[in-house]
Amino acid sequence: MSGIKDLGNATLTFDGKSIELPVFEGSERERAVDIRALRKETGMITYDPGFVNTGCCQSDITYIDGEKGILRYRGYDINELAENCEFIDVAYLLVHGALPNETQHGEFSRHLNSHSLLHEDMRHFFDAYPDHAHPMATLSAMAVSLSTFYPELEDATIQENIDYKVSRLLSKLRTAAAFSYKKSIGHPIVYPKRSLKYCENFLNMMFWNPVNDYAPDPVVAKALNKLLILHADHEQNCSASVVKMVGSAGANLYASISAGICALWGPLHGGANQHVIEMLERIIAEDKGNVKRVIERAKDKEDPFRLMGVGHRVYKSYDPRAKVAKQMCKDVLAKLGVSDPLLDLAMELEDAVLADDYFAERCLYPNIDFYTGLTYRAMGIPTNMFTVMFAIGRIPGWIAQWLEMREDPDGRIGRPRQIYTGPTLRSMNS
Ligand code: SDX
Repeated sequence: MSGIKDLGNATLTFDGKSIELPVFEGSERERAVDIRALRKETGMITYDPGFVNTGCCQSDITYIDGEKGILRYRGYDINELAENCEFIDVAYLLVHGALPNETQHGEFSRHLNSHSLLHEDMRHFFDAYPDHAHPMATLSAMAVSLSTFYPELEDATIQENIDYKVSRLLSKLRTAAAFSYKKSIGHPIVYPKRSLKYCENFLNMMFWNPVNDYAPDPVVAKALNKLLILHADHEQNCSASVVKMVGSAGANLYASISAGICALWGPLHGGANQHVIEMLERIIAEDKGNVKRVIERAKDKEDPFRLMGVGHRVYKSYDPRAKVAKQMCKDVLAKLGVSDPLLDLAMELEDAVLADDYFAERCLYPNIDFYTGLTYRAMGIPTNMFTVMFAIGRIPGWIAQWLEMREDPDGRIGRPRQIYTGPTLRSMNS
């Protein structure tokens, strides 16, 4: 790893015994106690539900400063990348560690185009799903099914064919997402076109149909690029950890990504973007837009209601992605001439959160999911597809994290310990 510095030892003293545990810091001066010898030396383990204080790896990929609201991919600030790059360049950066030059960009773009089709046998998978099937279920099934069509990629050494692996997943899962939408509305599927770039191709597959000669709006395509960049990676989040856990057992990349899609589906994780819109719609339908009542419910410990799109395990300040997403939402709606009462409500709700001590004391701010759904909605993407959009954006981050795990010299199969609190030995005859 690029920036590790040894800082000597921490002493742990308990029950008349002391042990020395090494302390080191990373390139951004984050510090860790290396407890790998703890159980052998003391018989004890650490206890940290949800891994709030536990580092699973050293990583060169993404840096987050939760207190300062900083997010960088391979050292580049998210605002600079979102403003100046195409999504496929950021995907390349995350996997390879450097932005592509013109030749590499062209080659990667050609890979994406040549791998954009699904095998025709896979196209028929969609016929078996009910129209109301949630597209995250379909996407996860398509991801793992790709491994049955391309078994050769399981055997190749990790770095070999990496651009094939990345482009197959990035391109084919984008196609599968559009196919699942078309199937859900009973429209004929639309095949990818070699002449279109990544985001334009997706929009065309989603919205072209035989009677509506749709052409992707450049404003929408630019916004989609930016949204996918905002979602591209987020270090050791829940779904990335699942991808790595599955991969640590030696499972192939497609199976690992399929598991990550399922983890992301959860409403506490990527599923929040869909639940934000449903929450805003319910506030209007059931509470006549009464923000005060919603805030009281969110603070009431007896009420299971949670403000979706608010709070974060790492950000204890405003999520930098949410800042970009909020401004982009306002810009895109203005350019498209769309006015959405849900955006007005979202901004009113945000003001109420930022003004309330309950949220300030717990460092609860809007996160990436608070505004992104409103922009997808203005693009015409249905609510149940919002988490699919999150997944498409996150694919390069999952792949980069999976590759780093597979190449980590300290890497081992993931297997946390526990403290048993159940019945001690008893007999069926007792
Ligand atoms: C993502 O990890 C990542 O990087 C994820 C992600 C990525 O890019 O991969 O950033 C994407 O998942 C964003 C988060 C999307 N989820 C939501 O918006 C769902 C709503 N948020 C919460 O459920 C919650 O904030 C989490 C799940 C995001 C974080 O949960 P934690 O870190 O386990 O915090 P917690 O549940 O222990 O809450 C701490 C306190 C509690 O109150 P007290 O018991 O201390 O009194 O804050 C309260 C919670 O009740 N709280 C909330 C709240 N979130 C936390 N209260 C009301 N509404 C909320 N949304």
